[in-house]
Amino acid sequence: MANVTTRLNPAIWPASSRTDSKSGELFLGGLSVTELTESYGTPVFILDEADFRARAVKFRDAMHSIFGPSSEVYYASKAFTSVATAKWLAEEGVNLDVCTGGELAVALAANFPASRIEVHGNNKSLLEIEESIKAGVRFIVADSLIELDRINSIAGGLGKKQSVLLRLTPGITAHTHESIATAHEDVKFGFSIASGAAMLAAVTALNAANINLEGVHCHIGSQIFEETGHILAVERLIKFIADVQKTHGVLLHHLDFGGGFGIAYVDSDDPMDIEKVLTRIHGALTEQCAKYEIEIPSIAIEPGRAIVGPAMVTLYQVGTVKDVLLEDGKTRTYISVDGGMSDNLRPSLYGAEYSALLANRSSNAPTADSRVVGKHCESGDIVIRQIALPSDIVPGDILAIPATGAYGRSMASNYNHILRPPVVVVCDGSARTIIRREKISDLLALEEG
Ligand code: LLP
Repeated sequence: MANVTTRLNPAIWPASSRTDSKSGELFLGGLSVTELTESYGTPVFILDEADFRARAVKFRDAMHSIFGPSSEVYYASKAFTSVATAKWLAEEGVNLDVCTGGELAVALAANFPASRIEVHGNNKSLLEIEESIKAGVRFIVADSLIELDRINSIAGGLGKKQSVLLRLTPGITAHTHESIATAHEDVKFGFSIASGAAMLAAVTALNAANINLEGVHCHIGSQIFEETGHILAVERLIKFIADVQKTHGVLLHHLDFGGGFGIAYVDSDDPMDIEKVLTRIHGALTEQCAKYEIEIPSIAIEPGRAIVGPAMVTLYQVGTVKDVLLEDGKTRTYISVDGGMSDNLRPSLYGAEYSALLANRSSNAPTADSRVVGKHCESGDIVIRQIALPSDIVPGDILAIPATGAYGRSMASNYNHILRPPVVVVCDGSARTIIRREKISDLLALEEG
């Protein structure tokens, strides 16, 4: 492993990423992409364990130093979950947010303490509610009056009292893609503060014999680059807590303001510094609590993307390369890789941008205007719409796409009966599979015809 010298942009790449100054080859966790792809095939997600842990710990430590020791970080499983990562989070003192029975099952399979799990979802099934209560989860975040009623009766049937947070809609339009903004009024999530639905929910929960209403929650959206939305949300939630105290004499002592902290996908992205954002939110929180003369609640957040996103890289093998003549007379090089929208839906769904690196060798060739595309049968199957890549890329080369950890593998599908890629963990020069590659037999096992 001689000459491993050049560190890549740590905002986009896992901390261990290096390129060999002579061969130009990319190393992840001390292993070359040639070794990794020969052992594990392509496409493959490579997860840097130390980087994942470090990003989780950074959130935990920032929260503790800014909001005090009672504050909590709930990692959002939906970004990516597995038994291995749940174990790491348990060890690092980071809690878990789950939003389905499947995510709960993974957490429980990792022996994650249920007392550190929070359960989300706008349409939890009766079974999901029952399994959560039986497991002894810390909070169920209630999303509707129907659900409050279900939680109350299921908890009663089990002879338990369930701690609940109310998901509130603070009426904020977060500056992000429409599909991932979640706290404006016309949205499926939560109880609107402005309409009075939130107060009605609080009264309902306070009167429910088997519910212990402990606090409020909101999540304004995802991939957010400005702190103004979070600050406004916290202000509105504090006012709501004060209103509940004034009208009902009950202090809701827990406030969870969700996740959504944006990350860099390309060099020009400039995400917020997490400590600065949390400090500003803390400032707004203390100011509002003083204004309404209420005790400062214990605070929780739910980052997903900002922990796992930059910790993972996708390695693809190039299958075909072809030049396409465009209407304006220019040429675009189409580089087809062996995955695509089945392992990264984000470009097709949200127009998300990514960067790429020729990862198995260096190249001195001039760059060509390129488009990286997948192998699915539709033209929208694009990994990177426009990127300058070396013009000598050929079949067999390896492309590395950084920052694919969040909502990549977790939103992967079997479209075109493609096999979902494995997740391989690298750490200090060794690698192991934490989620194996699917096999054709996995797909055929579902057939009952
Ligand atoms: N908490 C709640 C209640 C959420 O709904 C979410 C994300 C999070 C926390 C974590 O947000 P994060 O920190 O990861 O941004 N598939 C989309 C993202 C959807 C996010 C849904 N909820 C994407 O690929 O961008």
